[in-house]
Amino acid sequence: MLRGALRPVIAQTGRHCTISKPYSHTIKGKEQAGAIAASLRRFSQAGGPVTMIFRQYVVVVKVVVKVVIVVIVVVEVMVVMVVEVMVVMVVEVMVEVMVVVMVVMEVVVVVMEVVVVVMEVVVVVEVVKLFDRDSCTYTYLLADPNTKEAVLVDPVIELAERDAKLVKEMGLSLKYVMNTHVHADHITGSGLLKKLVPGCRSLISQVSGATADVHVHHGEVVTFGKQQLEVRRTPGHTYGCVTYVCHNEKFALTGDALLIRGCGRTDFQEGSSETCISPVHSQILSLPDTFALYPAHDYVGQTVTSVAEEKTLNPRLTKSKEEFITIMSNLGLAYPRKIDVSLPANKVCGLYNLPEDLAAKLADK
Ligand SMILES: [Fe+2]
Repeated sequence: MLRGALRPVIAQTGRHCTISKPYSHTIKGKEQAGAIAASLRRFSQAGGPVTMIFRQYVVVVKVVVKVVIVVIVVVEVMVVMVVEVMVVMVVEVMVEVMVVVMVVMEVVVVVMEVVVVVMEVVVVVEVVKLFDRDSCTYTYLLADPNTKEAVLVDPVIELAERDAKLVKEMGLSLKYVMNTHVHADHITGSGLLKKLVPGCRSLISQVSGATADVHVHHGEVVTFGKQQLEVRRTPGHTYGCVTYVCHNEKFALTGDALLIRGCGRTDFQEGSSETCISPVHSQILSLPDTFALYPAHDYVGQTVTSVAEEKTLNPRLTKSKEEFITIMSNLGLAYPRKIDVSLPANKVCGLYNLPEDLAAKLADK
């Protein structure tokens, strides 16, 4: 095509023209041929060799092509480098984000584990207060919510079925039915509860002289689940009285050794006003002021007091030993209504020497 386009031009100029093959194939198109023809005319008029025109044109084209190729390669290299750098940066950022996320998750897991441990350590003992209207006795059901093990303190025989039903409803495993002392005003429900809730065992202090599956001494610890009750001797109301102290939950079950704004009478069951006040102070009122105190009875509807209250407001236990003895000897209390029935029965865990109606009730179980 190029040769055909140039032929008329060459003929016009009347000059000899040679188009070398190695260059001619690089020149394509009529427009290019037209441009070259115009250059030939100008060159032929100037008398230059036509062959040189093609050589210069091709050299320019080759240089341009090489420059373009170099530019393209440089651009490619730069693009590749930029992309690689960006990819590396993105990957690094993603890795850092994942590391941060993993660290945060690990921290959350550790915090949750700590929370669980703390909850287990400080878990609140469930304290259910039960009441017997006839004898004004408080029965306490203490349970470890985690293990479901429980103890029942100072149960009353007439209400043993209520207590057993409650234990079953709450899904508890009753470990001990225990007493703070041998009661004179009611028969303990320990014996009947052992029949109603198979597996539980009766517990009382050794010095009480009463029969039981487990006898405890001053300083011993009664456990249920992860909870503990320290046994502290507090004689005076009876010789065998003990107080159960739950240090973890900061409360004490005082039995009759300390009542709200009062104390149990000291004129029966080897009771002694002379020995009463000292152990109450050393074993109960020596606890921190914030300790809650739960008595075995209350006759006016009060349910709880504290060490701080009783240290300042108890009308008997705040007095001197001599004043206390005088107060206790002048109470003028009537003979305990149920003492003749309760004491013999309670000496044997409330299982024997029962009145006929209760004996029949027990025989049915
Ligand atoms: Fe009592």
